Amino acid sequence: MQNIDEIKKQLLSQIIISDNPREVLKVPELKQLYIVIKTLPETDRGSYGKSINELKMVLESAIKSREAELEDSSVEYIDVTAPWDVNSKPIELLPTGMGSQHPLTREIENVIDIFTRMGFEATESRQIDDDHHMFETLNFPKNHPARDGYDTFITDDGYISPAHTSTMQNRILIDGKGKLEDKGQIGVVAYGRCFRNEDIDATHEHTFYQYEGVFVSESATLGQMLGTLRSFFEAYYGQKLKIRTQPSYFPFVEPGLEFAIEKPSELDGKPGEWLEMLGCGMIHPNVLLAAGIDPKKYRGFAWGGGIERLVMLKYGIEDIRHFESGKLQFLRKFV
Ligand code: DAH
Repeated sequence: MQNIDEIKKQLLSQIIISDNPREVLKVPELKQLYIVIKTLPETDRGSYGKSINELKMVLESAIKSREAELEDSSVEYIDVTAPWDVNSKPIELLPTGMGSQHPLTREIENVIDIFTRMGFEATESRQIDDDHHMFETLNFPKNHPARDGYDTFITDDGYISPAHTSTMQNRILIDGKGKLEDKGQIGVVAYGRCFRNEDIDATHEHTFYQYEGVFVSESATLGQMLGTLRSFFEAYYGQKLKIRTQPSYFPFVEPGLEFAIEKPSELDGKPGEWLEMLGCGMIHPNVLLAAGIDPKKYRGFAWGGGIERLVMLKYGIEDIRHFESGKLQFLRKFV
């Protein structure tokens, strides 16, 4: 009897940790118990047999509950280094074979393609910059309150992660200055990542993309700018659009405008539903001067807007946070 108790303890402790608990029933000690029956005096066999049956029942119920436990937990392993969620269900969402272009990359290519077909050159913006390009050359005087509007990230040693692609304006103007005499114009579109210390919600991200246009010639006009922007938006959305502007303030343009389009009916828009798409205006003389371009001889226009906003409208994406989420379910819609 003592032997039975010992075997019970031993087997139960194996069952609760075993991955295949039923195997435990095959141990020789258990068989041995049956063999022993025959060696016992007749009178003891009954109670001994009953003890073995009880043991079998106890083991069986322990095995059943261990099996249920194993099935339930179907253990999930987490690989914290994987660039995707390995626990994703359904399994079809796991990456297989080739990857695909991120929707923003693809749309940036579309945007740039339209502008280069209009004759603009394209350049990628920087991801780390300085006060000179973020503010100084854009006619933000030191301590000007408009600086606060940009919620910039600044490092301890004074570097700035650009809060708009306008940081490229001074570089574009300086690069283009040499060719201005020969070619008569500068026409460049800069695109790239921007960063702001934003409270994040469905329409605000700390990391986002902008596209910025700069055009300079002896005779650039606001009308040319509006024509350029209208052509761009109509090409991007593939349809005629209504446009609207209203005055706005940016230190680097005078006059400054906000440019809106009427939401196309194909994209669920109702008449009179206007969407502000970008800021723009005639380049401020101080911005031309900061690049060594004579504002008495040359004039220019510039614009800057968010790429996510363009793309969200085109595809009916309701939340800007999808773009940086890395969620395959979202990304696969754009394959
Ligand atoms: N940089 C501005 C922003 O992000 C947008 C902008 C407004 C750019 C007017 C321009 C411009 O080039 O002329 O808020």
